[in-house]
Amino acid sequence: MPDTWEQLKNDCGACRSCPLWETRTNLVFGVGREDAEVLFIGEGPGEQEDLQGEPFVGPAGKLLDTMMAIIGLDRAKVYIANIVKCRPPRNRDPQPEEQAACLPWLERQIALIRPKVIVCLGRISAQALIDRDFRITRQHGQWFRYGEIPIMATYHPSALLRDPGKRPEAFMDLRELRKEIRAVCSSTELYDDSI
Ligand code: URA
Repeated sequence: MPDTWEQLKNDCGACRSCPLWETRTNLVFGVGREDAEVLFIGEGPGEQEDLQGEPFVGPAGKLLDTMMAIIGLDRAKVYIANIVKCRPPRNRDPQPEEQAACLPWLERQIALIRPKVIVCLGRISAQALIDRDFRITRQHGQWFRYGEIPIMATYHPSALLRDPGKRPEAFMDLRELRKEIRAVCSSTELYDDSI
C-alpha cells in the first residue's frame, strides 16, 4: 500500500522508538505545503515549538521567517520539519540514537513531499542528511545531493541569533538557494529581486 500523510501522521504520533516522547508536550511533526518544492529541515523542537506543536515558532523561527522573506519565500510556500520530532530536554542536541530512531519519519515525509530542493538548518541536520563529518563553517552554502535532490546547509537561525557576525555568510547562502530554486522549481514564485 502506498504511504499517505494520514498513515504517516498516525504512525509518527504513536512512536515510542526513543525516550523523548516521555518528556515532550507535543509532537512537532512538520508544517507547510505537502507538495512543497522547497523543504527546510532543522534540528529539533525548542520550548515554544514543543508547547505549540509547530516547528520554528520561537525566536529562531522569527529569524527563519526573515531569512525566507529575504528571497521571497514564506511558510505557506515551503515545508518545514526537523530531524527529531520531540523536544530534547533543556534544548540539548538530539543524541545519535534519537536521530536514528526519528529519521524514518523524515524519510517518509520526504518521499511524500518529493521536494526539488532541501535546505539543512545547522550542523545537526547537515550531519544527519549530507555527511556525518559535515563542517558547517566550511561547507555551508555548497550543494550536495540527497539521492537525486539538491541539498545545501546554512547556519541555524539560533546560531545567527547568537553570532550575528555570521549573517553575511548566511545571506550569501540564501542567494545560492534563490538561484537553485529558480533553476529547478516550477511553482515556487520568488517575489524579491532586491538581493
Ligand atoms: N530549532 C530547530 O532546529 N527546530 C525548531 O523547530 C525550532 C528551533
